[in-house]
Order: sequence, then structure tokens, then C-alpha cells
Amino acid sequence: MNIYCKTLFLFAITLLGCNEKKVEGKAKEEVKLKGSIIKSDFGSTPDGSVDLYTIANERGMKVAITNYGGIVQSLMVPDKTGVLLDVVLGFDNIEGYLGEHPYFGAVIGRYGNRIAKGRFTIDSLDYDLATNNGPNHLHGGDKGFDKVIWTAEQSMSGEGFPQLKLRYVSADGEEGYPGQLSVEVVYTLTDDNDLRIDYTARTDKTTHVNLTNHAYFNLAGVDGDDILNHEMKLEASKYTPVDNTLIPTGALAEVADTPFDFSSFTKIAKGIDADDRQIKYGGGYDHNFVLDEPSMALPFVTVRSHESGVIMKAFTTEPGVQFYTGNFLDGTINGKGGVVYGKRSALCLETQHYPDSPNQKDFPSTLLKPGETYRSTTAYRFQVMPSL
Ligand code: GLA
Repeated sequence: MNIYCKTLFLFAITLLGCNEKKVEGKAKEEVKLKGSIIKSDFGSTPDGSVDLYTIANERGMKVAITNYGGIVQSLMVPDKTGVLLDVVLGFDNIEGYLGEHPYFGAVIGRYGNRIAKGRFTIDSLDYDLATNNGPNHLHGGDKGFDKVIWTAEQSMSGEGFPQLKLRYVSADGEEGYPGQLSVEVVYTLTDDNDLRIDYTARTDKTTHVNLTNHAYFNLAGVDGDDILNHEMKLEASKYTPVDNTLIPTGALAEVADTPFDFSSFTKIAKGIDADDRQIKYGGGYDHNFVLDEPSMALPFVTVRSHESGVIMKAFTTEPGVQFYTGNFLDGTINGKGGVVYGKRSALCLETQHYPDSPNQKDFPSTLLKPGETYRSTTAYRFQVMPSL
């Protein structure tokens, strides 16, 4: 190459470089943060101190999340009068979350819901997990993902929505599960008033993964009435009936003509105490519904409270949802503002693969192998009833 060519070549490279920088600069200028995130101290736990991240969008909706258990501590949404209402159960401070409580607002893992007798087999190897729910394993064991400290990073989605990225590495053998599992849970607050949760995970040994969030919703506000007057429409024509320890029998049963039929808006109160064996096993609703068409475009469920005018729609990529009506809440927990959380004072819609999938060959598999990426997304959207 002569000097002339070399100069020309260098010039071209420089131009290319500048161009690249310009493109980068431009992209950064275009996307501005649509909302805010404020980090504050949330106290200390035996494993270290934790923070509370309060995320707001430009429409005034707010969510507060702590990196202890990835817990959604409060969720403030506008009601029919425009006043912000807290619609999730929880505590004012970390001490509440360190005490006994039924997973309020937490990330659940490594396996959300029950695994029969705490046992499964992978590649002829038997694994034994804690039996922390009668004879069964529930929600990841004695110290599930709801009780660990996650690494937190404030971030922004490609569209500019505020995000909190939480990461946790679950050691090989933790709570009896095989494989080191690297998990990321990203909470995003969009300007559609969606709280979107994106879960990803990778493992170095074949394992089972089923992640969810255990928010307890009361759309009339957490210091309001119970959820018996809420109405729900659920796009699920089947559910998975259970035995008396809430382990699926393996069958998929039609909801039609049973208290499990929510194909049109139905008051929760209508079937919750029905003279029905399945309802009795759950002490109300505590069952996995098989979603007809899981999608992020169409809601699988709509719940509404006439009292507040708040509507919640939820979307998911998961094949099922555990609909739980807070049957075990018994008035022994004093939550935010000292409010007593009585029986059925909230409902949960835990998106998931079906319970006990590791032992049910006909259910969609929850196995995750090295080299694969577990992906799951759920969004809860808040609106106000149009007619009010
Ligand atoms: C899930 C279970 C319920 C109950 C709650 C926590 O929803 O299905 O049976 O254990 O978690 O109390």
C-alpha cells in the first residue's frame, strides 16, 4: 500500500468510527427516561442491608420494590376519583418481611407452587427437597428466592420505561435443587400502567425452574373490604384438580358448570364456599387454571372492583395461573398502617407452569438444561372502569 492509499484508508476508518459514535449518541439522546426511580434504605437483614426502589411512571402510578426477596412492597394505582390506592398487601418495614408471612409480593423460586413429597428424578438421579407444606415442597423450600438478597441495578427499557433489574445466583444444591442457577428478574413500569416482570434463568446442570410473583391484590385498596365482591373474568376452560394436599391428580378438568367457571364476569363470592370437593380441599380457590391462550397481547384475566373502579388485567407467556383467594389469611398479621389482614382480604394470580410438573409427565415440562435460557413474562395492567 503506498502512502496515498494508506492515508485514504485511515481517513475512511476515521469517518466510519465518527459515524458509529454519532449513531450511538443519537440513540441515547432520543430515548429519555419516562418516569423516575428513587432508591432508599429499607433496613438490615441477617444477610445484609437492603434497599427500597420506588419507581414512578409519567401517569402517576408507583411501585416500590425491595431487593430483599424481590418483593413488591406497594403498588399505587389511581382509583375512579383519581386518588392513588395501594392495591397490594405487605408491610411498612423490613421487620415485617423478616417475620412469618405468606410470601407477600415476593419473587418465588426456584419452583413456584408444590412438588409432591418434595421429590423428583432427573436422569435417574433422585432429588430430595424440603417438605415445608404438609407432605409437600412449596415455593422453593425453607429459604426460597423470596428470602434472599438480590443484586439490584436501576435501568431503563429500550422505550425509556424505568426498570429495576434484580439478579441472584442460586448455588448448585441450594434447597436441594441441582445446578447453579443464574436468575434475572426485571421489573418495568410502562406508561400503559403495566407492571411487567421479565424472568430469565440459566443453569449449569439440568434442573427444574418455575418462577412467579406472589403479589396479594385487593383492588379496593389494602385497607378496604375483602375481595369477595371483586368480579373476575378468566380465559381458562380447564383447571388442574387436586388431591387433599393440593397436588394435581394429573387430570385437566372442564370448568363449565363448576364453581371454577369464570368465563364471564363472576363475583368471587359466588363459588368460593360452594359445596364442592375441590373448593373444600382449597378452603376456597387455591387452584391452577390452564390458560386457553397465554399471550402478551390479550389479557388472560380481568379483575374489577366496583367500589374503587380499579380494573386489573394480566398478561402472561406462562401456560397456567394459580388463583389463590387468601384462604389461609386469618387476621393474625398486621400489615401496612396496622391493617389486619383477614381471611380473603386479597387474591393472588401467580402465573406459572402447573404444580408438580416435575412428577407429571403429561404437563408442560419445567426442565431447564445447560445452554438453554428460561424465559417468562407477566404484566399486570391497571385501569379505571370506563363506565364510572
Ligand atoms: C400459594 C399456595 C397456597 C398458599 C399460598 C401461601 O398460593 O397455593 O396454598 O400456600 O401460596 O400461603
